[in-house]
Amino acid sequence: MLVNATRMLRIAHDNHYAVGHFNINNLEWTKAILLEAEAQKSPVILGVSEGAGKYMGGFKVVAAMVKALDESLGITVPVALHLDHGTYNGCLACIEAGFTSIMFDGSSLPFEENIEKTKELVAIAHDKGLSIEAEVGAIGGTEDGVTADGEVADPEECKTIAALGIDFLAAGIGNIHGIYPKDWTGLHIDALQRIQEATGGIPLVLHGGTGIPDAQIKEAIKHGMSKINVNTDCQLVFAEATKEYCLAGKADPTAENTSKGYDPRKLLKPGFEAIRAKVKEKMELFGSVGKAA
Ligand code: 13P
Repeated sequence: MLVNATRMLRIAHDNHYAVGHFNINNLEWTKAILLEAEAQKSPVILGVSEGAGKYMGGFKVVAAMVKALDESLGITVPVALHLDHGTYNGCLACIEAGFTSIMFDGSSLPFEENIEKTKELVAIAHDKGLSIEAEVGAIGGTEDGVTADGEVADPEECKTIAALGIDFLAAGIGNIHGIYPKDWTGLHIDALQRIQEATGGIPLVLHGGTGIPDAQIKEAIKHGMSKINVNTDCQLVFAEATKEYCLAGKADPTAENTSKGYDPRKLLKPGFEAIRAKVKEKMELFGSVGKAA
C-alpha cells in the first residue's frame, strides 16, 4: 500500500525504532526491497535520488513501476515513495508524478532561501497529501583540508525549519554519505540530543546509514532518529554478489554446465538476494520488523 511517510515515522518515533529508507536504482532493487519489507512485516521507504530517477527513465516511470509492483506483488505493508535530496523543481515533478513523499534539500542555499522554498513546498505537498522532509545548512566538518568528520547541524536552524510544519528533518550529526573515512570520529549524540530538544520531538532522519557501527545506530534511534537512509550498503552487496557470480564463470557462454547463466534473470539473482539479506539485516537493526501497522 503506497502511503506518505508521516504516520509510519510518527509511530516509529513514539516507539523508539526507525524505518529504513532504501534507495532504489532499478526494478530488481525495488522488487527485492518490497518483498523483504513484506516478509518482515515492516514499513519501508523507497528513496529515489534525482539521478536515479533520470536513470530509470523519469519520475513518472518510477512512480508507475513502484505502484504496479506494489500491487502485483500483493504488498500489504505501508510503503512510501520518497524523493531523496530533491531540488525545488524536482519536488514539483515528483508531486506531479505521483510520489507520496518528498525531501527538499535546500541545505546548500542561503538559510533564508532554504526557509522560503521549504515553506512553499510544505504547503504544496500537504495540500496533495504528501509528507515532506527538509534539511538545514550545517556547520563544521573540515579541518586543515581534511574531512574526517561529517557536518553537525545548528539546533537553532533546525528549530526554525521544523516550525514550518515539515514532517521530518534531516539533521547532520557527523554522518556522511558513502563509505566513512578510517579516521571518522563517529556520530555526535550530544548534538542529536540538542537538536531533538530544540525541534520539539519531530522525527529526525539519519542520512549516510552505511558503515555506522550498530551500537551508534541504536543510540541515535533512542534519541529521535526515526528514518535511516541506506544506499551504499545495498550497492556494495549487489556488486560483490554479481562479481562472485561472474568470476565463478557462471555467465560464460563457452563454459560447460552454465545453463545459460548469462540470462539476466540468473545473472542479477545473486545481487537481488544479497539486497534482500541486507535489507532484512537493517530492518532487524532498526527495530521495524513486525511494525507494519
Ligand atoms: P549511504 O549511501 O551512505 O548509505 O547514504 C544513503 C543516503 O543517505 C541517501 O540519502
